[in-house]
Amino acid sequence: MRIYDCRVNHLKNPLGFQMNRTVFSWKVKEAAGKEQDSARICVYADKDEKILLKDTGFDSEASSLGVSVDVELKPRTRYYWNVTVRSDAGEENVSETQWFETGKREEEWVGKWISCNSEEKRHPFFEKAVNPEKKVSSARLYISGLGLYEAFYNGKRIGEEYLTPYSNDYYQWQQYQTFDVTEMVQEEGTLSVLLGNGWYKARFGFAAIEDTGFYGSEWKLIAELRMAYEDGTEEVIGTDESWLVRRSNIIFSNLYDGEKMDDTLEVLPTENVVLIDAPKGQLQERLSLPVTIHESFEPSEIIRTPKDELVLDMGQEFAGIFRLHIREPKGTKIHIQTGEILQDGCFYNENLRSAKSEYVYISDGVEKDIVPHFTYYGYRYVKIEGVSDFKKEDFTGLALYSEIEQTGFLKTGHELVNKLYSNVLWGLKSNFLDVPTDCPQRDERMGWTGDAQVFSATASFMTETYAFYAKYLYDMWQEQKALGGKVPDVVPSCGVETTSTVWGDAACIIPWNLYCFYGDKSILEDQYDSMKAWVDYVRQVDGDEHLWREKFHYGDWLALDNPVGGVDQVLGSTDEGFIAYVYYAASASILAKAAHLLGKTEDEKFYEKISEEQFAFVKKEYYSATGRCCVNTQTALLLTLKYGLSSDVELTKKMLRKLFTDNHDKLLTGFVGTPLMCNVLSDWGFSELAYHLLLNEEAPGWLHEILLGATTVWERWNSIDDEGHVSSTGMNSMNHYSYGSIVEWMFRHCVGLQQKEECPGFKEVTIRPELNWELRSAEAVYDSAAGCYEAAWKLTKPDYVEISVKVPFGCKAELSLPYASSELFANNENPIFADVKDGICYLQAGEYQVGYQTTHNFKKVYSIHTPVNLLFSNDKAVKKLNGIVKFNDVPAQYRSYSLKEIFDRFDSCLTEDMIIRAEKALAEEGEN
Ligand code: BGC
Repeated sequence: MRIYDCRVNHLKNPLGFQMNRTVFSWKVKEAAGKEQDSARICVYADKDEKILLKDTGFDSEASSLGVSVDVELKPRTRYYWNVTVRSDAGEENVSETQWFETGKREEEWVGKWISCNSEEKRHPFFEKAVNPEKKVSSARLYISGLGLYEAFYNGKRIGEEYLTPYSNDYYQWQQYQTFDVTEMVQEEGTLSVLLGNGWYKARFGFAAIEDTGFYGSEWKLIAELRMAYEDGTEEVIGTDESWLVRRSNIIFSNLYDGEKMDDTLEVLPTENVVLIDAPKGQLQERLSLPVTIHESFEPSEIIRTPKDELVLDMGQEFAGIFRLHIREPKGTKIHIQTGEILQDGCFYNENLRSAKSEYVYISDGVEKDIVPHFTYYGYRYVKIEGVSDFKKEDFTGLALYSEIEQTGFLKTGHELVNKLYSNVLWGLKSNFLDVPTDCPQRDERMGWTGDAQVFSATASFMTETYAFYAKYLYDMWQEQKALGGKVPDVVPSCGVETTSTVWGDAACIIPWNLYCFYGDKSILEDQYDSMKAWVDYVRQVDGDEHLWREKFHYGDWLALDNPVGGVDQVLGSTDEGFIAYVYYAASASILAKAAHLLGKTEDEKFYEKISEEQFAFVKKEYYSATGRCCVNTQTALLLTLKYGLSSDVELTKKMLRKLFTDNHDKLLTGFVGTPLMCNVLSDWGFSELAYHLLLNEEAPGWLHEILLGATTVWERWNSIDDEGHVSSTGMNSMNHYSYGSIVEWMFRHCVGLQQKEECPGFKEVTIRPELNWELRSAEAVYDSAAGCYEAAWKLTKPDYVEISVKVPFGCKAELSLPYASSELFANNENPIFADVKDGICYLQAGEYQVGYQTTHNFKKVYSIHTPVNLLFSNDKAVKKLNGIVKFNDVPAQYRSYSLKEIFDRFDSCLTEDMIIRAEKALAEEGEN
């Protein structure tokens, strides 16, 4: 038995994070037993585990998903802990020793806020000599600098993080980081801190103009170097008047436009620092995960474009910086620009709007590597000017993102679907840079709440998201407090005060998703006030006259069904008021469930009632007496099925099917409908249609983007036309993760792994694979909060499937074998059938396999019963029908019906002979 992935507050060995509680979690593998009998957590004051501070004793209730243990925490102290697990087979093992270390907590800062002349554009280095008097046993640097900072000791970078102290609403709070500098300060040297502009003091967001920051205009630094000597004494060096300022050669930086450095500048005299007021927001321990460099890329191709530009293709779009090796004569100006796509073979960046996204460097003639400090780029292509003899190895792309571990791995028998998975993962990596952003390249890169909300379940399958979103949700609540509960459209808001349905509902949906994925109620405790404030805000706006729908709402943003159409259209045609009430009711229902879990009975009743009332209002207002949804769009009908809004489910299904059929089985959905679409279709028996939408290679569709060269997921379904031209420059990013939310369906339906809501954290799951012949196979590994699941299926023949499943220690699965005959279950040799009820195999921890003949043949056959629109969208079917019936033979008004229906029901163009011949031709061998 091995214990792994031990965390406190969902972090591994955290240094200097906010610790308002101590929740311990772990996972177990390689055990002989099936589940945990009991567990014991011990917290120590020392590494040798001699000074015991807390011992829970063996507790049969201790859940591996999170045990809250009260530990009285002192500032700047490292605590050690371990967990011992006993299994039902009598095994016992103890984890490796883990630790967590507090920051300064309530302790006063010795360091003072310092600044320098902020009019001077040359970015400052604040410096201080450090002369340790004795042998240092341990040293920490506590530091924050605005807008951004990078710290060095004797010129060597301290830590590996970029863009510290990260992005917050700096009016509310800001973070400081803690670095272990014990090794570095063993010798005397200089502590220096370089400041940049970043989110705080350069243009960013909608409210900032030109190059003025929204939050502030002055450089500000606070730091405290604490050196503990071996003899037990301590020296503290805080920022104060004794520090000096030296000017760097960085003359410009911001997040959108890039950075400029001139190494030919003269050295300026050092300046004295000035003491300055603390910034408005409260200085607190960090919540942000470190943003570090992950993958590095060499250019996959060096291109000389028709315009004679030198352009590098990195082969993959990502967010980050780069390293460029330079050997140019003094005074040479090097100009770098980044873009996402080429246009007519040439460099292109107009869709970045006003973001210059460039790097300018003036060489001092010294050979060196340059790496930008205070900016980042969302890019695949790089245009380089001013380099005389460029070699491929001179440029390395460096992907920057928050330290989130990948937990989900998915592979199918379909290359393009695998590419889609990779594209979504890159969309995630590019937009998980401290804040869940909409896009990483143009003049936005903001924490749009709607985008974050629709992608949060997908992200939580693909990566470990708890701590990342916890920081975002904390930010959200800080913003709400200043806005009377309203959730601004972007968080951190940077001055944005508008809100909208679906977007603001992130306040309820993301915490709920985190609870479902990780099974730790702490997130609901932490966010309860925020969730409630949001629902109360909507309630108050709505009043007694249903005024919520009178407000502007993005609704089914970027859907394709708005009759006005056009490449710049942003609104869909699903009534935004309808969507607003469905989400109001849904958020109130989530809030009621959270209240229930937290034992807030009054609230539970109150918000359950609100939810019921709002759902009742939706049903009354937007449905006919017979249950027909009056908003006849794909998205409205998907919402109808998801939330059970119609009294006639069959009618709704029929309406939805017809809408798809009428549209050649193609989607028209935007930000609301798309993330739900395939999940709802599968839930309601339209798995084949869900697959069809996934696998469709024509526009609009996921695979269509890939066939046009996408390496991430586009913002719009029609971002690029078939000639490879960007459809418009108003709002068009090639790296928006929202539609990447299809990955949630891949896990939940294609592989079939779903957690049961009543057993959050994946302690108990259902596995219901949905098979598809075009896909052939699907396999997933998901290292859930409860342990690592594996699930795979493979159709070796159109009617023969092999299924394998691995259930982790402490977990249970209910496996449904699709299209299995009842005789199969009589095979009592196979442990998979040890416990079967009503065709469901109840599985405990272990590995299982089975292969069987399915009662359904998965080869898709087009027939005279296939709707004409669909039949004629299949090339092979068209070929088979050649000489029998043509698309144009069928009047346009009949094309959503099948050939057989048209013949049976309408006086038409089709003869009996045609039907007989068509039936025969379509039944001929050959896949279609
Ligand atoms: C962003 C979106 C966002 C939207 C608001 C856009 O500019 O990029 O993804 O959700 O505005 O509707």
